[in-house]
Amino acid sequence: MQRSGAQVRVAESVRIQHVTEDMLSGAQASTIDSSLPTILGIETSCDETAAAVVRGTEVLSCVILSQTDLHGPYGGVVPEIASRSHVKTLPAVVSEAVSDAGVDWSGLTGVAATYGPGLASSLLVGISAARALAFRLGIPVHGVNHLEAHIYSVFVSDGTPSFEDACPFIALIVSGGHTSLVRVTGPGAYRLIGQTIDDAAGEAFDKGANLLGLGYPGGPVIDKAARDGDSKFVRFPRGRQRKGKTRFGDLDAELCFSFSGLKTALLYYLRDNPLSVGRTEVASLAASYQEAIVDALADRCGKAMKLASRLVVCGGVSLNSRLRSKLNDLAQKQRFDVFWAEPRFCADNAAMVAAVAAAGLGISGEDARRMDACPSLGIG
Ligand code: KG4
Ligand code: ZN
Repeated sequence: MQRSGAQVRVAESVRIQHVTEDMLSGAQASTIDSSLPTILGIETSCDETAAAVVRGTEVLSCVILSQTDLHGPYGGVVPEIASRSHVKTLPAVVSEAVSDAGVDWSGLTGVAATYGPGLASSLLVGISAARALAFRLGIPVHGVNHLEAHIYSVFVSDGTPSFEDACPFIALIVSGGHTSLVRVTGPGAYRLIGQTIDDAAGEAFDKGANLLGLGYPGGPVIDKAARDGDSKFVRFPRGRQRKGKTRFGDLDAELCFSFSGLKTALLYYLRDNPLSVGRTEVASLAASYQEAIVDALADRCGKAMKLASRLVVCGGVSLNSRLRSKLNDLAQKQRFDVFWAEPRFCADNAAMVAAVAAAGLGISGEDARRMDACPSLGIG
């Protein structure tokens, strides 16, 4: 019981967007056009409890309660703990998102929840809450694909073109659960062209940080530690696939990733060099390990960019500073445009979920009213 109260208070301090008076009056002034959908989004697919209100493509509020502290001691997300925490904290997170947005409950035109991919028990919390709220408010409920939402995170960000203007483009979705390359030709028109055949890039960061004793989640700590290290210290494998097709249907092997060998290589390095690993070596191992992941991502993106002239990068790993500089350099060299989500929309959030529903995508009507969690939902 004690913990539940503490969690709700944490929600105050982890609010990633606080709508100030200025922003609010701007938002309200620009929302006189009541024809724009005003969607409450809910995201509970993994270990972030999040809610947001989006009108059209304008984010009116965005509240995220991270469960990192609860899962940290286990070195990864524990599904049972994640869903219990969503149940306890979602009501407060939703209330805060609606009040932050400066809209009345009656001003909402729909409620959207992520229905997959993700942890079944966590997804069900968001789905049930969205369905109940929509029923109570007498408005439609929408189901949103988490991967499509990550793509939309770029288009609710400042300084990016509209989704339609960016098409056709390649999306690199790079997160704790996914590493996929998708060719996007229009709203809802996605073709998967590459993906990881084993671990996701974020998972590789998390496992690597665990082996190096750096903590959880691994991406931010490796990113930080690597700044003081030598990325050429150890040449870790880049998980390049042989030419031809993969076991995933007709996916081109040259556009696919493999990160499980990298983690094993680090494990063996640490086993074989136990005494030489001091603080400097840890920084250099982090830098070398990060370089292998980022190199693999940049290599496949470079190849995929024969299919489009714009690249959109999204998901938690897109926060990585080395990935940003490497892909920005590659974009200059290969002459393509690259667009990133604002940092606050890179990791899991509900603004991206609401944005998909506001664009008229995802599932709705009877399908949404009857939706179930789809833990392994794909894209394209
Ligand atoms: O998108 P996200 O919040 O959740 C999923 O949909 O999986 O991504 C979480 C992942 C974690 O694996 C975390 O280690 C990674 O994003 N991450 C990073 C960085 N910040 C978060 N990876 C590399 N560098 C970062 N700075
Ligand atoms: Zn995600």
